Amino acid sequence: MDKQHFGATEKGMEVSKYTIENTKGMQAVVTDFGAAVVDLLVPDRDGNMVDVSLGYDNVESYNKETTYFGATVGPYANRISDAKIEIDGTVYKLDENDNENNLHSGFSTWAKQVWKVKEHTANKIVFTYQAGHLEQGFPGNITCDVTYEITENNELAISYYAVSDQKTTLNMTNHTYFNLNGCVSGDVLGQELMIKASNYTPVKSSKAIPTGEKAPVEGTPFDFRVAKPIGRDIHADNKQLIYGNGYDHNFVIDKETDGMEKVAEAYAPESGIVMDVWTDCIGIQLYTGNFIEGQIGKNGHKHVKHEGFCLETQYFPNSINEPNFVRPITEANVPYETKTVYAFGTK
Ligand code: BGC
Repeated sequence: MDKQHFGATEKGMEVSKYTIENTKGMQAVVTDFGAAVVDLLVPDRDGNMVDVSLGYDNVESYNKETTYFGATVGPYANRISDAKIEIDGTVYKLDENDNENNLHSGFSTWAKQVWKVKEHTANKIVFTYQAGHLEQGFPGNITCDVTYEITENNELAISYYAVSDQKTTLNMTNHTYFNLNGCVSGDVLGQELMIKASNYTPVKSSKAIPTGEKAPVEGTPFDFRVAKPIGRDIHADNKQLIYGNGYDHNFVIDKETDGMEKVAEAYAPESGIVMDVWTDCIGIQLYTGNFIEGQIGKNGHKHVKHEGFCLETQYFPNSINEPNFVRPITEANVPYETKTVYAFGTK
């Protein structure tokens, strides 16, 4: 059970890093700034520990950069059109922090807040954050717990639990950028990916608001139903890939139950590391680090484009405003609960 000083916010709030690990050596270092994953050490096929998560060396970078490395995004991940939502006839205005739209909740997103530690054991940590009514414009006094646990099966399990005293919208995710050859190993385009999705949600323009359609992946670069290298089709002459500057799209998971299911699998042929993604969410955003260019990460490493990929489990982008999508509404005093597991192995 390890706690280390990490730095301080601009306002002088102390920020720490915490280690959680299993008895097999798998380890995560997480910070209370944004309840973010900083390091994630998993064994490669030779048993060497590889840090597969992009991160920063200092709190200033976590605060300043808009990459969301490792962060807990809340209350609402991804985009909301016109930075505006309506719940029971009341319009709530949010920050316009992505053109005229809202991205990852706004300038004071939970990803930029210092969370409290509620519980910390050898393999588990629970962060908690309390948002006031209308904080960033969202209704309700919301209490949120995010639990990270490293299991004996080499899984990083992330559980979200939130309760609001008013009807609100919650759509949380984790924004870790994975690189299964290590976070300083160059781009991930040769790493293989499978996503269990027959449809995805195309966007209207480079501003990335979905059209509302669920379009078949069949015959498009968005077909990941059979594993293929992430980079195989990324440069295809496809309008959606041009809008996204790469993959930056939500997939409609082919769900068979309401519970936890395996929805994606990634594999790096060089390291042999495999990562399975399990979730109870209905959507997953594949973002291939299209806007990473030159950020200075851990150990002073200068990141290159596509040096990590995110698999952000969530409701569909803009689903609070899009009538064709399942609407993420959380009723007053009814818990919002979701879970995602990133399970590691080798082959
Ligand atoms: C979004 C990207 C954005 C990135 C960093 C992703 O979830 O889909 O468009 O650049 O987050 O903010």
